[in-house]
Amino acid sequence: MTGTILVAGGNGYIGSHVVVELAAAGFRPVIVDNLANSKPEAARRVAAIAGAKVPLLVGDVRDGAFLDAVFEAHDIDLVIHLAGLKAVGESVAEPLRYYDVNVGGAVGLLAAMRRHRVRRMVFSSSATVYGDPVSVPITEDFATGATNPYGRTKLMIEEILADLVASDPAWRAVSLRYFNPVGAHESAQIGEDPNGIPNNLFPFIAQVAVGRREKLSVFGGDYGTPDGTGVRDYIHVVDLARAHVKAAEALLSGALATGAHLPINLGTGRGFSVLDVVHAWRRATNRPIPYEVVERRPGDIAACYADPRLAASLLDWRAGFDLDAMCRDHWRWQSRNPNGYEEAA
Ligand code: NAD
Ligand code: UD1
Repeated sequence: MTGTILVAGGNGYIGSHVVVELAAAGFRPVIVDNLANSKPEAARRVAAIAGAKVPLLVGDVRDGAFLDAVFEAHDIDLVIHLAGLKAVGESVAEPLRYYDVNVGGAVGLLAAMRRHRVRRMVFSSSATVYGDPVSVPITEDFATGATNPYGRTKLMIEEILADLVASDPAWRAVSLRYFNPVGAHESAQIGEDPNGIPNNLFPFIAQVAVGRREKLSVFGGDYGTPDGTGVRDYIHVVDLARAHVKAAEALLSGALATGAHLPINLGTGRGFSVLDVVHAWRRATNRPIPYEVVERRPGDIAACYADPRLAASLLDWRAGFDLDAMCRDHWRWQSRNPNGYEEAA
């Protein structure tokens, strides 16, 4: 399928992989990003992998005049919206900033889309909208409830999309609820490049493996899970990116013309514990990965994994990479780019 797709936040970790897969599928991606959490080098590498020119338009999704210029210069068919802030702890400390960037950004982008009669959106949501689920696996009809401002911004944006689609059947919107995206493109040219001490498990272990950190702190060994550590549904970022292509194709072809906003889980459907992940990293790297079990992290839940059947039936999408491939590809990226995009190997 062809078409021009505006990828807001397309220079970030997930967005860069989405842009590569869109180009591979025949779309023309256009990146909009304010570089708040990414470096221009990412877009250069994306273009090299894609073997195509990919415009990087630097600006903010809250800037209506900037967006008007983007929509006037490019004949956009659909928007994939990944731009925003994503650190849970920071969102508790600075809630107004999170509501401004995430909710204000989504409203600003949707308003610009309406002005330019573009009415198709794929939105980056999160499994965090399920809060502490009553059971696993999680289906899309589970109760939602956020436990922090970041999660609330995701829920609010989903509700805004639902209201918009209800107000005008010409709109079509899908919210992809990501479980735990990890890994990197197999070329090792693009990947996750967190600032400071990583909050999340994979980037932290990657820095232990490469020797930047001494050991992993395992947050809690007394959960009601098989080995007592937290269980999550890790999903390879390339699988995740391919689901965006499927969602874009389904929205553009009319296959998803349901007249309602659609939330769709993106996960493998399998849960792995923190210790399972440590063992997989040892296999992938042949390095020891020292760890110590410490107190639980406040706000963490015991287990969270997806029922991914809706994505299979509506989008004909299934995850293909297993945990070993996720560790292998994350490690290849980290070991070849020990300081992320700052020092190319
Ligand atoms: P990221 O920080 O790497 O990418 C986000 C990109 O958006 C960055 O390049 C940043 O510079 C840009 N950006 C931020 N604010 C902007 C603004 N106001 N205007 C324009 N650009 C802006 O994050 P990511 O991991 O790629 O996540 C992408 C999206 O997926 C986010 O919305 C995030 O909440 C969501 N998500 C991520 C995860 C995860 O584990 N990484 C899980 C669930 C959902
Ligand atoms: C985190 C976010 C969640 C977001 C998700 C996206 C928090 C509290 N939650 O979820 O909102 O949607 O990322 O991927 O930040 N762990 C350790 N040691 C570490 C880091 C993590 O033991 O140094 C454990 C955690 O306790 C958890 C598992 O590893 O059991 C995964 O943690 P993480 O990668 O931070 O993801 P989530 O907590 O699932």
